[in-house]
Amino acid sequence: MDLDPLYLATAVEGALACGRIHRQYFRRGLEVHKKGRIDLVTAADLAAEEAFRALIAQRFPTHAVIGEEAAPAPALRDRPVQWIIDPVDGTTNFAHGLALFSVSIALRIDGVIQVGVVYDPIGEEIFTAERGFGARLNGQPLGVSQASELVNGVLCTGFPYTVREERRRQVDVFAAFLDEARAVRRLGSAALDLAYVAAGRLDGFWEERLHPWDMAAGVLLVEEAGGRVTDMDGGPLDLFAGHVVATNGPLHDPMLSVIQPFRLRA
Ligand code: IPD
Ligand code: CA
Ligand code: CA
Repeated sequence: MDLDPLYLATAVEGALACGRIHRQYFRRGLEVHKKGRIDLVTAADLAAEEAFRALIAQRFPTHAVIGEEAAPAPALRDRPVQWIIDPVDGTTNFAHGLALFSVSIALRIDGVIQVGVVYDPIGEEIFTAERGFGARLNGQPLGVSQASELVNGVLCTGFPYTVREERRRQVDVFAAFLDEARAVRRLGSAALDLAYVAAGRLDGFWEERLHPWDMAAGVLLVEEAGGRVTDMDGGPLDLFAGHVVATNGPLHDPMLSVIQPFRLRA
């Protein structure tokens, strides 16, 4: 399918606009509100999502927008053309002045992600992908790493806001990877984690209880950079099921093998 070039251009335009909003608020004593015990939202999350919704409403009025802060996602799942946005991925980092967060924007048409953009406005890195046309970082082609053994791999994960309720199992998986890999990281922005797998900086990523907006753009980046993405059982990724493994390819089956015993307890 030939995609309208305006789609990727719009995702980039939207991401850059969100990034300008992030920079206006970052480290400026912004108000932080709690959505849950440890789940935060700031004025920047709301303003960035609002700016993107306005852009899509004006340019593509028939398209749906599924965003973290506003829409009840299930009602929009059936629309054929959907933009999926996380206006700030890594809100905890953002609210604490840690410069590791991003905006994640994907375009999904008839259930297939066609465009993915992840933008880090502090590092000024924009990761872009269009299905079938590769992944890029600031316009330069990206490729996954070559690591072929877990002992040479740097892996990454994250913990959901429900971690306290199921900590034992999540920590056990983390510990199992500590035994196998060169290092394991927890950076705090799933979208950036995936972008870093695409860029070959990380060799593999796993996480469960993610939302579609955390990973929709990043998984396309990984695939288009030559990597592999599945759910934690090795099946096709279901954005709404929320568990994902994304790797450079060679480390995929080894990672699934480490995770598998813990899936029985999921
Ligand atoms: C979170 C980040 C984090 C991941 C959490 C997500 P948010 O998104 O992606 O890395 O571990 O599961 O909820 O709340 O900062 O948009
Ligand atoms: Ca998120
Ligand atoms: Ca968010």
